[in-house]
Amino acid sequence: MSTPVNRQIILTARPEGNPKPTDFEIVERPVPVPGDGQVLVRNTLVSLDPFNRILMGNANSDQPPIEVGDTMFGFTVAVVEQSNHPDFAPGDHVSGYLGTTGWQDYALSDGSDIRTVDPEAAPLTAHLGLLGITGLTAWVGLTKIISLAPGKTLVVTAAAGGVGSAAAQIGKIRGLRVVGVAGGPDKTRHLLDDLGLDAAVDYKAPDFAEQLARAVPDGIDFLYENVGATQFPLMMEHMNLNSQVVVGGVMSQITSTNLTEGANDLPQVLRKIFYRNLSVHGFDVTQFYGDYQEFLDDLTPHVLAGKMHSATQVIEGLENIPTAFPQMFTGRGVGKLVAKIA
Ligand SMILES: NC(=O)c1ccc[n+]([C@@H]2O[C@H](COP(=O)([O-])OP(=O)(O)OC[C@H]3O[C@@H](n4cnc5c(N)ncnc54)[C@H](OP(=O)(O)O)[C@@H]3O)[C@@H](O)[C@H]2O)c1
Repeated sequence: MSTPVNRQIILTARPEGNPKPTDFEIVERPVPVPGDGQVLVRNTLVSLDPFNRILMGNANSDQPPIEVGDTMFGFTVAVVEQSNHPDFAPGDHVSGYLGTTGWQDYALSDGSDIRTVDPEAAPLTAHLGLLGITGLTAWVGLTKIISLAPGKTLVVTAAAGGVGSAAAQIGKIRGLRVVGVAGGPDKTRHLLDDLGLDAAVDYKAPDFAEQLARAVPDGIDFLYENVGATQFPLMMEHMNLNSQVVVGGVMSQITSTNLTEGANDLPQVLRKIFYRNLSVHGFDVTQFYGDYQEFLDDLTPHVLAGKMHSATQVIEGLENIPTAFPQMFTGRGVGKLVAKIA
């Protein structure tokens, strides 16, 4: 029997724009040995997130990047292999919910960055999606940053992605009329048929502006903005007086190499913020890790009752992550992107 090794994906260059497979290298290192109070986990699922790209650097972000040569940071689901920690036993399923377990086969933990999950209760992929940081991000935006009111209209951009689909479904659970924005007819169909949204708008269609106007006849009361692109000024045209915007992400800007390209819509956006008395708030989910248990208590019953659709796109194999990850920024399937590595 061959000795197990720890394959790690390390960053070898800071990408320009969308990452390339050559920005990474897979190295093989010895499986680490847990010391006193430590746990050795074997990662089985790796979450692929826009945040990974931000941490590679050159991503139009204020977030400090990881060092070139470091193992890629990433959220995982894992199985405990060895434990010198009283709270964990071999065979336990855990979620590496702070991202330090990373893009690798094995990781050491002192127990503070992992928590036990029940594989019988929900699919393990849910702990990276609806019940992971992705779901937490949607939930924080809609419960801690803005306050939803039933019967009002919520618009969610990038609604077919991980965060967007969670936000749209939270809006439905809270009794709002929810409109999702996504690119292409397959994705808008998914929003209507699988997520049960009230309307879906295709931002890639030539009649996007007309579709949006038809979808929000009473205007927009709440906007969950994930994209930060040309869609945003158009949304501003429909915002109601005293309405609220949460900026959860700027997906379109992360890999952009020319942010000044295109029309300067800032004056019209500021005019709407001023005259319509809009509240606009951004947030960083890492500031809300202390709310994780409240989030789980709120959302888990809906997930377990099958009331939330957990779309997941799974790629197979740690070795395929460097080629699959860039799809995130060039168009891919619906839902949360996950790599199954064991
Ligand atoms: N605030 C926080 O702390 C926090 C935490 C986690 C994530 N985020 C942010 O949340 C956003 C969504 O993340 P996610 O995990 O849901 O990612 P995701 O699952 O990959 O979904 C992102 C969606 O964005 C759309 N998209 C990609 N490039 C685009 C472009 N150039 N223009 C318009 N749409 C584009 C894609 O949908 P279409 O095919 O429909 O375009 C895709 O479904 C990201 O901006 C991320 O950085 C923020």
